Amino acid sequence: MSINCNKNAPVGVFDSGVGGLTVAREIMRQLPNENIVYFGDTARVPYGSKSRDTIIRYSRQIIRFLRTQEVKAIVIACNTASALALDVVRQESDIPVIGVIVPGARAAVHETANKKIGVIGTEATIRSEMYTKIMQEMDPEVSVIGKACPLFVPLVEEGFAKHRITEEVIDIYLRSMKESDIDTMILGCTHYPLLRSGIRTYMGEQVHIVNPAYETAMDLKELLLDRHIANDVPREDHAAYTFYVSDAADKFKQFANSILPYDIETTKQINIEEY
Ligand code: DGL
Repeated sequence: MSINCNKNAPVGVFDSGVGGLTVAREIMRQLPNENIVYFGDTARVPYGSKSRDTIIRYSRQIIRFLRTQEVKAIVIACNTASALALDVVRQESDIPVIGVIVPGARAAVHETANKKIGVIGTEATIRSEMYTKIMQEMDPEVSVIGKACPLFVPLVEEGFAKHRITEEVIDIYLRSMKESDIDTMILGCTHYPLLRSGIRTYMGEQVHIVNPAYETAMDLKELLLDRHIANDVPREDHAAYTFYVSDAADKFKQFANSILPYDIETTKQINIEEY
């Protein structure tokens, strides 16, 4: 493959479903020349309640599929898969693979003044304590409070982001965080940026909210530039975005069109178990 071909090759982005679109959206904003192939594992979502072995198996299958699309780099746009599978799949891959946890952790450690940080995420992400480990490697004085908020994912997927039920659930899950003295909170699940305004209002202005999607897109940019594989050829309208899912393509498309800056025309369904 020539260098030029590498530059034009798409970036593969995957998630357990629609949540990773918050990361894809950030890549579209910050890296407008990059073509993207997105895979959402809508048949097997949620990952947040599954075991490490299962999440590694799913991630391997998805990476094998993305390689058939000749991607030049892969972004695991899912906190759960980043926490449980990134280390393993990165070692197996000859193209760069990045996740969302290191970028989010770095931003939070940089942001905190009192070194007290809250992390919210799925059960698997919180149980893994990956955010805590990484942040304490960056700064051993940091203390971290984690809280699993499993109901946030279905609330977002049902379009209840601004519903009063969601306000109540935010209160139930985040009251102990609000009563603690954290000054920074990481939205450690790709769905949660879609609840950002409710969480922000509830936690108050004194708590800085970190969305790892933003930092992940910045890390991707740096990685592509370092390896001389950034696409520097702008297209007239926008880069090529292709979407694949493992189930419910129409529902995915509808959701994607409500949050992405460009309308998706087609979403293709594939059988991920074949990879
Ligand atoms: N995308 C997942 C994450 O960021 C949340 C949804 C799920 O449980 O699969 O952890």
